[in-house]
Amino acid sequence: MSILNLPSPSELQAFRKVAIEAARIGGGILQQYARAGFAIEHKTRLSLVTDADRESERAIVALLTQAYPDHQILAEEEGIHSDRQSPYKWIIDPLDGTTNFAHGFPLYNVSIGLEYEGTCMVGVVFDPTRPELFVGVRHDGATCNGQPIRVSCVSELDTSLLVTGFGYDIRETADNNLDEFCRFTLRTQGVRRTGSAALDLCYVASGRFDGFWEHKLNPWDTAAGVVILEEAGGKLTTYDGRPYSIYGKHMVASNGLIHDQIIETLRQSE
Ligand code: IPD
Ligand code: CA
Ligand code: CA
Repeated sequence: MSILNLPSPSELQAFRKVAIEAARIGGGILQQYARAGFAIEHKTRLSLVTDADRESERAIVALLTQAYPDHQILAEEEGIHSDRQSPYKWIIDPLDGTTNFAHGFPLYNVSIGLEYEGTCMVGVVFDPTRPELFVGVRHDGATCNGQPIRVSCVSELDTSLLVTGFGYDIRETADNNLDEFCRFTLRTQGVRRTGSAALDLCYVASGRFDGFWEHKLNPWDTAAGVVILEEAGGKLTTYDGRPYSIYGKHMVASNGLIHDQIIETLRQSE
């Protein structure tokens, strides 16, 4: 990332404002569909998509394109929206937690991240059911509904509460995270599976969970959450402790204090 051209604090605030507006619009659309009903299609046997996912994405992309016609956009359902050359890329999950949404289980969100030359600078995750709005801006902190958030102080795996998720190919592969799930369940106060990776990261950021690991993530699941987590004092790496990229698949996210213990436990299950 070239320091000379870094976005200024006022530019970051402008991006933040637009991202919040887009996430609220997407969240509003999800709630309309939740009330009125929606059609469900299968992308694969376990991976679902609804017309709420598609309509939320259409509205978010339209707003971001209008605000920043030069910026690149990567969105889950339609992929890359243009081959524009820009150091900025918006990365959108229009409905993270589709399986929850499809079952009427109220834990899902809209996730919007903004990358500048490969570094996530702004992240907004909006859960319209509570409602909770998580926001992170690089070097400017992380908030939930406007209040600063911080990771937990739990320093032992033994007394931690963790969260994880499973890939949609869980029935087709032995690389399915079940061995790791059993191992952590026996070594912690509990392991939760919420069905929403973006909220998992926000919940670690706000101290509700102490750590998170997952092995088959996509950039739209994490682009917003990584800024929120890091700005709340959290730590992110791959399973072997290397710097995490949203284009990689494996992630360990934690309060920093139990990070090495999570990595050590993952290593034991190899
Ligand atoms: C999924 C959720 C889930 C995680 C999966 C993701 P989607 O996203 O975040 O928690 O375990 O890896 O694909 O499909 O609901 O947008
Ligand atoms: Ca997702
Ligand atoms: Ca999604």
